[in-house]
Amino acid sequence: MKLQITTLSENTAGLGGFLAEWGLSILIETDEANILFDTGQSISASHNAELLGIDLSQIDKIVLSHGHFDHTGGLKQVLRRIGKEIEIIAHPDIWQVKYATREGKERYIGIPFHRQTLESLGARFNLTTKSTRISDNIMTTGEIPMVTDYEGIEPYLVLKEAGGFKPDKLLDDQALIINTELGLVVILGCAHHGIINTLYHAQQLTGVKAIHTVVGGCHLIDASEERVWLTIAALKELGVQRLGVSHCTGLPASAIMAQEFGDKFFFNNAGTKISLP
Ligand SMILES: [Fe+2]
Ligand SMILES: [Fe+2]
Repeated sequence: MKLQITTLSENTAGLGGFLAEWGLSILIETDEANILFDTGQSISASHNAELLGIDLSQIDKIVLSHGHFDHTGGLKQVLRRIGKEIEIIAHPDIWQVKYATREGKERYIGIPFHRQTLESLGARFNLTTKSTRISDNIMTTGEIPMVTDYEGIEPYLVLKEAGGFKPDKLLDDQALIINTELGLVVILGCAHHGIINTLYHAQQLTGVKAIHTVVGGCHLIDASEERVWLTIAALKELGVQRLGVSHCTGLPASAIMAQEFGDKFFFNNAGTKISLP
């Protein structure tokens, strides 16, 4: 299988003229399908795609990792560039009213558009809680069971409801799995359910043990050092061959991972391209 992974939007940018913004968008091109995984926070994904000479109308499907603004805020711009009807695979909870309550402030962090606006631009939502097969070797994870005892969701991530705020279980959190000859390639959005929970679920869904590449947001930005070390130990046990961290991984965790994984580690920022084999 031919596979190319290009990060269109991330918190930092590695190439001249590229835009960086808090968020993530990754383009996956294969001989089976072309998938846009998340869309960044606003205009950076489409701007950077243009600089790379990437024609977004060649995308077959969009997959959303979850309903936070920094992964969905680029939808409008991307849909305009795609210019035709396109399936968007996501969990129904992406439309929940998501907030962050931190340092005494309440901030809306959900999708910054009405569903009808996106549909008028060609979005055709395929909302499902389950793993969805996109092609022979590509699938979404669907809901990710939380089985490790050291991964959890921060209490400041909440839903706004009539009676006030309640914890957001982020059931919409999901990843993309590509089954290659070398093992699984797993693309993470924010990994709110935990990177290790995500990888265990990917193994379970595919029946494949080998995990070759992990790319994307590892959401260790607020993690204790203990959780970071337990995550690293599990990644080593899983035999991950290549680890490209982005976005919400956070500098302290990224620095430890860089040290621990050596050549297998890289910063995956806007403009990073990797391919398999
Ligand atoms: Fe995020
Ligand atoms: Fe998020």
